[in-house]
Amino acid sequence: MLVFAVSDKGGTGRSVTSANLAYQRALTGDDVVYVDFDFGSPTAAAVFDVPGALRGVEQGGLHSYLEGAIGEPVRVDVWARTEHPVLRSRPNGSGRLVLIPGDASGGEFATDQETLRRCVDLLLRLNGEFDVIIVDLSAGRSYAMDMVLEATAQPETRGIDSRWLVFHRWTRQHVVAAAGLAFKEHGILEGGAARGHDKDTLRDAIRFVRAAVPDPESPLWSQVSPAQSTWMQRCDEQLRRLASDHRIGDSVVLGTVPLEPVLQWREQLITEEDVISTQIANKETLEALEEIARSLTDDTQWGRP
Ligand SMILES: Nc1ncnc2c1ncn2[C@@H]1O[C@H](COP(=O)(O)OP(=O)(O)O)[C@@H](O)[C@H]1O
Ligand SMILES: [Mg+2]
Repeated sequence: MLVFAVSDKGGTGRSVTSANLAYQRALTGDDVVYVDFDFGSPTAAAVFDVPGALRGVEQGGLHSYLEGAIGEPVRVDVWARTEHPVLRSRPNGSGRLVLIPGDASGGEFATDQETLRRCVDLLLRLNGEFDVIIVDLSAGRSYAMDMVLEATAQPETRGIDSRWLVFHRWTRQHVVAAAGLAFKEHGILEGGAARGHDKDTLRDAIRFVRAAVPDPESPLWSQVSPAQSTWMQRCDEQLRRLASDHRIGDSVVLGTVPLEPVLQWREQLITEEDVISTQIANKETLEALEEIARSLTDDTQWGRP
């Protein structure tokens, strides 16, 4: 299954959340690959604590592959290469967890028929090898997004189950921007239809993930004044209304990740140890990530009988 992770803005929590979803799926036994198609900012390796690739690899990354300089992009076995102490020993029953990084020197680039061909080949190869392929795409209406919309509209790839996760924060700007990316001009739906996707099928494959959402009921806010608390509640309600007015209400939300202090300080995977042993992370955060990871393949969440 292909999972495309997009957001209209940068800094939404797209990479950190989707890396955590990759980790959660691998823990449950799936073979998972995380493909860093955020060409302008290939930073996924930092989240996995993989050294030497913090801003992409020096050679042989996805940019080089798509530009035709190499035949196969570098793969990083996260269980073997991570410096994260808990991930170092691959958990029993887990599947593969592989990162395909971008090039450190790479940036955004325009795509042509050759690039498209290589992209299709890569997705087909990975689909034959992995259960879940998470593709982290550049923010906004990017070349990367157009390329994968085109790549998944080809006859060879049409049969692959593809899903789109649109990440956004819980503010007015982010809600409106996320809806725009999905439904407005040159967005996923319109851009996809223009490239030959069936609009209804594509619409059914889009879900939203609200990231870093402050819960007014959380103990984090227990010190705020009654006036502040009432204000936050009202804000939250207004945002809910705004989201549903923009057709990104609860029925198309795959999940909500609470504002997590650990992630506010550091881009990383949240492990069970972080919640149970060291107690640095909130239980609600891990549960939300586990639930979204599960929902990725829960047909009832995707309107499929
Ligand atoms: N649930 C969360 N709570 C608090 N901070 C978060 C949360 N999710 C992500 N972040 C932080 O927000 C910042 C941006 O996240 P990132 O995933 O890099 O965004 P994007 O990929 O959309 O540009 C990072 O510092 C990340 O750790
Ligand atoms: Mg990112």
